Amino acid sequence: MSIQIRLNAVIAALLIFCLAGLVVTKLIQARPRILTETTNMLSFTKDYIETARTGILASPDPSTRMRELATRLEDARHIEVALLPPGEAKINVPQTPQPTTLQWLESMTIGDVDPQMIAIPFKRGMEDFGSIAIATSPFNKLRELSVAIEDIIVTGLLLALAAFGLTSWVIWRALRPVHELCDAIALMEAGHYDIDLTVSGTPEITAISRSVESLASALRKAQRENANLSIRLIQLQDDERRAIARELHDELGPHLYAARVRGTAMKSELAKAEPDISSTAQMAEKLLEEINTLQLVNRRVLHQLAPAALRELGLTEALQDLADRWREEHSTINLTLSVGLPTDMSLDETTELTIYRIVQECLTNAYRHAHASNIAVEIMTEPFGNNGPAQLKSEKVIRATVIDDGKGMSNEIDFGYGLRGMQERITALGGKIIIGKSSIGGTELLAILPLPNSLG
Ligand SMILES: Nc1ncnc2c1ncn2[C@@H]1O[C@H](COP(=O)(O)OP(=O)(O)OP(=O)(O)O)[C@@H](O)[C@H]1O
Ligand SMILES: [Mg+2]
Repeated sequence: MSIQIRLNAVIAALLIFCLAGLVVTKLIQARPRILTETTNMLSFTKDYIETARTGILASPDPSTRMRELATRLEDARHIEVALLPPGEAKINVPQTPQPTTLQWLESMTIGDVDPQMIAIPFKRGMEDFGSIAIATSPFNKLRELSVAIEDIIVTGLLLALAAFGLTSWVIWRALRPVHELCDAIALMEAGHYDIDLTVSGTPEITAISRSVESLASALRKAQRENANLSIRLIQLQDDERRAIARELHDELGPHLYAARVRGTAMKSELAKAEPDISSTAQMAEKLLEEINTLQLVNRRVLHQLAPAALRELGLTEALQDLADRWREEHSTINLTLSVGLPTDMSLDETTELTIYRIVQECLTNAYRHAHASNIAVEIMTEPFGNNGPAQLKSEKVIRATVIDDGKGMSNEIDFGYGLRGMQERITALGGKIIIGKSSIGGTELLAILPLPNSLG
């Protein structure tokens, strides 16, 4: 139910209550007034008739004068008049028929009181002219009461209409900014965040308008960042493709060429009438070396494109495999790896690949730039609350830390393809990256990634 209908219902109930109170008070007050006034009028009229009786009886035609007097008294308020014939013992004054409303009002007020009746006899010696009978009649007073009650009801209705109009206007004015807010939110739902709200209205609504405005501006910013991120991801893919093309060209190209040369030489040697078997065998040996190198390069490129271990073994085992291969290739560096992911936790492919790439790039960087002797990699989960709003304390994030004891980074980091790519991947997953000095002298890189189901 809208606020307007509720408020109007309350006003209507209040008005009905007040009007009912006024009507009941009027009805209660009416009874003594009606009784007093009708009784007073009865005794006044009786005095009046008795005073007039002397003159009427002294006149030559008292019957006619009596009728005239009775006719005059018919218009008097609060009494009914009747002429009784001579010798009539029973006083009977018929009451003029009244509308049902007045009868109803009479039963509510003085329904239990019978009309008072008096007969004033007109006699001159032995002559009896009959009598003028008078009775109390409450209907004038009841008519007044009915008019007063009608006035109360009409005034009440007018007041109700005025109050409804006023509240409707006040509510319409107060809620105008709410309608504006609804329109703005509908626009935001449709993806338009350039909204311009006139911040007005009550303090509560002003506060909501401000919040909606800052929400719109935050969404605008996120939309821009999203667009930039999409562009960056496309650039990243292009960069990756270029890097692979470079690798194929620089690494595979020369070895393929060398293999072809050896193959051609072998072919021409074997085409001779008396081929030199030992030199052909040497050439075959060289050809096999080239093919071995090609296989290694091929495996490296394929591994860069999609680490097979990740798909086959899962993240923890794939990282162990990476660390093992790395230790074999860099025997002088002490690499420790600790993966503390719950065994029942299943990560999506993108998150797993991102963590794998972070470790891979950090190891390469620590070797290439830091010349580190010790590298420690730690992957673990922790409550989100340590890194975000308290209400998300129950949610978890993944913390990937790589520390080395190398020469450390300069304060102005010159982001290359490696760190930039890492940052883009982490941001795309809604995480963050922190690079600083490590406790063992070199660099510490910390990546915090929300678990996919923590993102809601
Ligand atoms: N562990 C580290 N210790 C010291 N310096 C580092 C470390 N990691 C990165 N750096 C510095 O940060 C720079 C940027 O690294 P980044 O990985 O982005 O690019 P890169 O390694 O130079 O090239 P690539 O695009 O091949 O990765 C490096 O050139 C290096 O100077
Ligand atoms: Mg690098």
